[in-house]
Amino acid sequence: MPEGTSGGTDVFEIMHTMRAMRRLKPDPVPDELIRKILAAGQAAASGGNTQRWRFLVLKDAAIKKAVQLYYKKAFDEVVGPRYASSPPPPGSDPARYKRQHAAVEYLTDHYHEAPVWIVACLEDGANPGRTAGSSIYPAVQNMLLAARALGLGSTLTTRHTQYEKEVDAAMGIPPGFHSYAILPIGYPMGRFGPVGRGPLSDVVYLDDWGKPYPGL
Ligand SMILES: Cc1cc2nc3c(=O)[nH]c(=O)nc-3n(C[C@H](O)[C@H](O)[C@H](O)COP(=O)(O)O)c2cc1C
Repeated sequence: MPEGTSGGTDVFEIMHTMRAMRRLKPDPVPDELIRKILAAGQAAASGGNTQRWRFLVLKDAAIKKAVQLYYKKAFDEVVGPRYASSPPPPGSDPARYKRQHAAVEYLTDHYHEAPVWIVACLEDGANPGRTAGSSIYPAVQNMLLAARALGLGSTLTTRHTQYEKEVDAAMGIPPGFHSYAILPIGYPMGRFGPVGRGPLSDVVYLDDWGKPYPGL
């Protein structure tokens, strides 16, 4: 059995089976589960423990639809053509990549139908460079892991930022804060399963760039 495909809530199992779940049922998700996901997000690290994050829970159908229109526009303009012309990533193959593309397109069309979104926001700070976002993405990953552990599906999405001004305004995010990720959350239609990644040995080095790390 591939690593991490048995049942249970072991953290390694969760990490290895936390696929992007893009086909979600519209059925409501109990608030208690959303609370657990949010608490997991808040347990994450932020630089200096500054916690300049805000988590906007969105259930409002009209707001989600307004954002979906921009999400779809960005798909039509950028993401769709890019998928159509790029090769499968490491650990994938043409058939799998085609399925991924179909799922991406499905989520694009049904984004707003996910019963709950968590929008991860961060207050403007002093680090607009390479570390921008580093005080919010640990919380995002914690929330994705928590959702997976609770049997809920989600996907880290950032495509909306191609229209960040319009989308942040549609979500009522005030000046001084920005959305960094939208997590559409719901019960998955499909099953969790092993994620597709390339060989670990292709991306790990020992001491010299390019020198294999024998500990794998
Ligand atoms: C920074 C980032 C942004 C992403 N944005 C989107 C997005 O806007 N829409 C989407 O469908 N998936 C998005 N994804 C999900 C990735 O496409 C997905 O995790 C990747 O294809 C691997 O799939 P897997 O986790 O199921 O193996 C994003 C992932 C990351 C890390």
